[in-house]
Amino acid sequence: MGKPYTRPRKGSIKKPLRIAVLISGSGSGLLALLNHQQSTQCTHITKLIISDNVNAGGLRFGEDFDIPAEAIPLPDSINKGQQRKMHENIIHDVLLNSDIELVVLSGYMRILTSNFVGKWKGRLINIHPSLLPKYPGAHAHRDALADGAKITGCTVHLVDEGVDTGKILSQQEVPILEGDTIEKLQERVKKVEHQLYPKVLDIYCSEDY
Ligand code: GRF
Repeated sequence: MGKPYTRPRKGSIKKPLRIAVLISGSGSGLLALLNHQQSTQCTHITKLIISDNVNAGGLRFGEDFDIPAEAIPLPDSINKGQQRKMHENIIHDVLLNSDIELVVLSGYMRILTSNFVGKWKGRLINIHPSLLPKYPGAHAHRDALADGAKITGCTVHLVDEGVDTGKILSQQEVPILEGDTIEKLQERVKKVEHQLYPKVLDIYCSEDY
């Protein structure tokens, strides 16, 4: 669907791929990635953190890890479509100004327009808390529980013009246990996400997928 994926260059330990991480909330996935990048000889490095939410807890990791962290909220505008476009254009410019080569969505809660996706397709990656194509959208855990599912999981995928429909790079299952609530399930899935996402990024940044 839409434009083809264009891969980023291969990163190396000498010249790691420059990553921006986009968040909206607590940033536990961001923290796992930053710890991973510090503890291993990595082919990627986080050079920028952006949040659409000025109150996102994850922004504080910028200070902790000495990485520029910027809140870019939706700008004021008369119409929603224009507002979305303006917001994405600001983000795009900030990414270019920091020479970003790969955009990592980690709990970023906005749906990106095909205009933005088209500029980054193949260099825009997301993690979703379900086994896609099951339970796309913002309420994956609620939907899995309501469905009576026994297994869910997480998916790392390239972003395309649809919602959680891009090329799947890797998935991992997580069992749903009796008595699970959205919160309990979310915590259990996040633990798996924190292992999976850095591993997939290692491969995506340094090998042919
Ligand atoms: C993760 O479960 C991610 O898959 C989903 O939002 C959550 C983000 O959590 N899209 P955090 O902000 O990294 O703690």
